[in-house]
Amino acid sequence: MAHVNVFDTTLRDGEQSAGVNLDRLEKLEIAKQLERLGVDIMEAGFPASSQGEFESVREIANTVRNVSVTGLARAHKKDIDIAWEALKGGAEPRLHVFLATSAIHMTHKLKKTPDEVVETAVEAVSYAKEKFPHVQWSAEDASRTDIDFLVHIIEKVIDAGASVINLPDTVGYSTPDEYGRMFREVIERVPNIDKAILSAHCHDDLGMAVSNSIAAIENGVRQIEGTINGIGERAGNAALEEIGVALEIRKDRYDYQTNLVLKEIKRTSDLVSRMTGMMVPGNKAVVGRNAFAHESGIHQDGMLKDSSTYEIITPAMVGIDSNRMVMGKHSGRHAFKQKAESMGYELTDEKLKEAFESFKNLTAKKKEVTDDDLFAILTDTQTED
Ligand code: KIV
Ligand code: ZN
Repeated sequence: MAHVNVFDTTLRDGEQSAGVNLDRLEKLEIAKQLERLGVDIMEAGFPASSQGEFESVREIANTVRNVSVTGLARAHKKDIDIAWEALKGGAEPRLHVFLATSAIHMTHKLKKTPDEVVETAVEAVSYAKEKFPHVQWSAEDASRTDIDFLVHIIEKVIDAGASVINLPDTVGYSTPDEYGRMFREVIERVPNIDKAILSAHCHDDLGMAVSNSIAAIENGVRQIEGTINGIGERAGNAALEEIGVALEIRKDRYDYQTNLVLKEIKRTSDLVSRMTGMMVPGNKAVVGRNAFAHESGIHQDGMLKDSSTYEIITPAMVGIDSNRMVMGKHSGRHAFKQKAESMGYELTDEKLKEAFESFKNLTAKKKEVTDDDLFAILTDTQTED
């Protein structure tokens, strides 16, 4: 079974979500939880972007001991020096330096020729390698880069000392087959590729970030990057909790393992949501409020008979205590009885019929009946003559 490293960028790309601004203590708390979650690498921030960010990255690097902490740098000596000062106290200091390689970015943003881009990337990686034991280089907008140029520049930066090559789908444009094919070609055509680990970094603009990440793994990638709850620039990054759970639940199909401690997922998701102020949509896979909720009578009945009927992930696997039977207008008598019993009410058949009728009347007025509502109905019914 092949191992896939998990690179978390909640504190860097995730924090780039519009409207999110984490302070030092919030970042540190998330970092400690990411350590408990078992990520292999955590990108704590972009040290050269501000003094506050520098201090925050340094504090995380000096505190978190079981994870390799990294920071982002542009291909500038100044950024690399600042990143080194922030990261040097870490357990396994690592630099993440990036430069765009697509024609669109080279022409309009960098205003550099392809040769100049190769020279800048090689210089930055060589310089970083004088300080850092591990250097990751990212070809920003790799998925929209000419493949011949990509193959050429990757060979050069590996020669310069990069041990991880990350090929992001920066604007979330790729499809799974295209993204997988890009990695396959790189493996086939870059002569020194065995000296580096390939990494995937996907954005979710077309809703394909998780599928693209898994396609990359199936095509030789051994590091995946993403964020908790899929937060990040624009439509966000690949949701790490979804990738981790998909690999586990479909291990009949995927022969890969990560170090993620899946039962820490819910706690991590809640913490990130609370600290960033970004609500998790109710129907979000794996961590949404409704991901383990069964509302229709037919589904509730199936669940009560055997949970495998409608549940492929157990709530316990991701750290949720029990599943949530939502009592609403579609709920049946069987589920109502079970719910009442779980709340400590043993009703006669007649009382049960009465309580169920009151419950149904209430569902005509309310979409979701809460435990407090049920408590009131059950108490009233029990005490009535
Ligand atoms: O999406 C992207 O290309 C990035 C790079 C900085 C790695 O976040
Ligand atoms: Zn990104």
